[in-house]
Order: sequence, then structure tokens, then C-alpha cells
Amino acid sequence: MKKRDFLSLRDFEKNEIEELIDLAIQYKSNRETLNILKGKKIALIFQKPSIRTRVSFEVAINRLGGFSLYLGHKEVQLGIRETVPDIIRVMSRYVDGVIARTFSHKDILQMAKYSSIPIINALSDLFHPCQILADLMTIKEKLGQTKGVNLVYIGDGNNIAHSWLIGAAKMGINITIVTPPAYKPKEEIVNYAKDISNGNSLVELHEVPKEVVSKADVIYTDVWTSMGQEDEAYERKKAFYGFRVNRDLINLAKKNVLVMHCLPAHRGEEITDEIIESKESIVFDQAENRLYTGEAILSYLFRDR
Ligand code: CP
Ligand code: NVA
Repeated sequence: MKKRDFLSLRDFEKNEIEELIDLAIQYKSNRETLNILKGKKIALIFQKPSIRTRVSFEVAINRLGGFSLYLGHKEVQLGIRETVPDIIRVMSRYVDGVIARTFSHKDILQMAKYSSIPIINALSDLFHPCQILADLMTIKEKLGQTKGVNLVYIGDGNNIAHSWLIGAAKMGINITIVTPPAYKPKEEIVNYAKDISNGNSLVELHEVPKEVVSKADVIYTDVWTSMGQEDEAYERKKAFYGFRVNRDLINLAKKNVLVMHCLPAHRGEEITDEIIESKESIVFDQAENRLYTGEAILSYLFRDR
């Protein structure tokens, strides 16, 4: 049977994303042991650190009856000790699936190309689809649906913003991405989102947070400096001045606005302690839902294998 990967929400139809969300909601309410991964071995190859993604996937694999194996950057040295195609062809002969977190999205694509087993993108410089699936589930839980929700993303046009553009356009969420001019999301991904939204959702870019937050049902933010960009931290702090999600900004939004952040947060930079700990914040619900959406992704890719 042809393998299926989970590299980007681009590769999944709207009804499949809905199915994944509903499966995750079902898994959250029913914690019986499942044997979908019985006898299956899944390796995690991570070039960067992780709490949520690594732990939720390892726990999910365990719950589904499988066995997980974590390989950090020091062991694998992706592309340094050995090429990505060589590594993944060898791994394909030992394990049944790979969950990979890389700097370059090209490495994820190469893994998918050269492996005979499913590859799950656990974050690359371009996308973080696992996170956005959990976020969509969280919005559905809190607001009853995703269609018609107004989401304002404030911050860097990064992997989270890219996956959000695709997820929102597919699920009928109106999305406004607010960034400083030099930190906009990639034009190609914005255009793709506009194309597939097909009039069902609005896809907009903006540069001034306080001018757009009043329409938000959900305000979303992420770090200004992503993993691997630490050298740029100083200039980024200057560029993102005025993009902090703080009480002054939230006061301009609707009374029942929800605040989301994929975590980890750089508290005091893109978001204040006060807002993370506020009644508007649902950041820990998002984090929790990584577990159930991780289970759903694994079940979906491995149910017929
Ligand atoms: N949100 C997220 O992916 O967190 P980790 O980097 O801790 O996995
Ligand atoms: N944009 C962040 C997301 C972390 C989950 C990063 O890539 O570091």
C-alpha cells in the first residue's frame, strides 16, 4: 500500500482535516487503550529541542500500542555525518515511521521522497502542521466550529504563520497576518492560501496590530526569534517593537476574545506574563490537544498499514 506522509496541511483535503480533528476530540473523551500501532516502531529524529511535540508523540505512540525511539541531533547529525537520503533509507528498514523536526524543510521533503515509511513533519523552518491541527481542534472545542472564525496572527511570518495560512484557508477561517514589513510570510504561501480559500475565507496581511485586533475572535502569537535564528534576536526585538500582545492591545479586542500561543513563549517579548495567565488565554489547552491530535495523525497514517 502506498504510504501517506504528514508534511504540510497543503497535502490534506478539508474533509480529511475535519476527520482528524473529530478523531482527536473522540480520543480526548475516550482514553481506552488502542492497538492501532501494535508492534510498530516509530523513530523521532529531532535536530532542535522540543517539549510538546516530542513528549506528546512519544506518549501517543505508547497509548496506541507502539514503540518509540528518540534520536537527537548529536546522534544523527543530519546531513553532516551522513546524507538525509542515506539516513532515511536505512531507517526505513528498521522502523515503521519517522517523526522529524529539522531546520530545513527540504530535509523533510527528502525524507519523504527517499523513505518507504510515513514521515511526519514535527516542525521545519517552513511549516508546523501538527501544531495548527491542535489549534484548529482547540478553536472547535471553544467556539463550536472553525468556519467563519476571525483569527488575527500578530508577530513573525514564520512556520506557524505559514501553516496557519493554509489551515485557515482550508477550514474557512478569516485570517489576518500582522507583521513588520520585513517579516511577512512567504508570498507563495499567501497566494496559495488566497487561491484555495476560494472566497470562503479572507486572507489578509497587515502591519499595525492595534488597527485590526477589534475584529478578532482569536488573537494568536508566536516568538519573534524562532529556533535557529538566535543570531538575529537583537535586530528582531527592535523590528517587533509594537507587536507585543499585552493588556493594552487586548483591551482593544472583543470582550470574549481568545488568546493563543503555540509555546514555548518568550514571556515579556511577544506576550506578557499577564496575558498568558489571563482568562482570555487558552495556551495550555492548545498544548494539551497536541497529544490527541498526535494520536489522530498516527492513527490516520497507520490504520491500514
Ligand atoms: N509547540 C511546540 O511545537 O512546542 P515544542 O517545540 O516544545 O515541541
Ligand atoms: N516558530 C517557533 C515555533 C516553536 C514551536 C520556532 O520555530 O522556534
